[in-house]
Amino acid sequence: MACNDVSVTLGRGAVLAITGPNGSGKTSLLNLIAGDTLPDTGTIVLDQMRIERWPVHRRRRNGVSRSYQRPVLFDEWTVSETMQFACDVLGCESRSAWEVPLELCGLGEVRDASVGELTHAERKLIDLALAIVGRPQVILVDEPCAGVGEAAQQSIIAALLFCHTAWQPIIVVVEHRREVLRALMALPQYVHLGLRDGVPTEEVMP
Ligand SMILES: Nc1ncnc2c1ncn2[C@@H]1O[C@H](COP(=O)(O)OP(=O)(O)O)[C@@H](O)[C@H]1O
Ligand SMILES: [Mg+2]
Repeated sequence: MACNDVSVTLGRGAVLAITGPNGSGKTSLLNLIAGDTLPDTGTIVLDQMRIERWPVHRRRRNGVSRSYQRPVLFDEWTVSETMQFACDVLGCESRSAWEVPLELCGLGEVRDASVGELTHAERKLIDLALAIVGRPQVILVDEPCAGVGEAAQQSIIAALLFCHTAWQPIIVVVEHRREVLRALMALPQYVHLGLRDGVPTEEVMP
């Protein structure tokens, strides 16, 4: 089993950082919350609704959103087409629904580029921009800064902090980098979960 005995309750504005070695179940836990994997047992509750059997799109429309460790994007589409698609799926009418997240992630200038031309860091940034379309109440981010340079890391931290200030979402972040964790730790409702072999550990912050 990829995750076992994990129990967390998060209120509005809470920030949960998940750390642990490779293969410890961090991505698996995000998959369970976002609906990419259905659990064998256990419950996931959102606003008093049991959502653990809901498919991904239903969770997304109800405000549970995620970015991926390895973003899955259509290389032939432009950045703006990709963002517009997310809005169409979510039924967001206004163009600003994708323009604001894109600007927030520092990608306004590459809106007409095709996704296939983006750097690794820009792919991570557009994946984050997609995840914050529609102001979701739960934002799950899987190693957002892995493999990106200092400037992109600053953009990612700034985007997450902006969202937190703007609408107090729950943010669940899997991240190894201390600088990123330190920036989030400063927020009042910060909680840390260490995982090893799919179960919580007492391990302190890296
Ligand atoms: N659906 C699944 N069922 C059972 N085991 C899985 C499933 N998905 C991943 N795993 C296994 O769970 C472990 C944790 O993987 P993962 O969540 O990707 O770790 P991390 O993100 O912490 O590196 C790995 O050994 C992986 O092979
Ligand atoms: Mg992972």
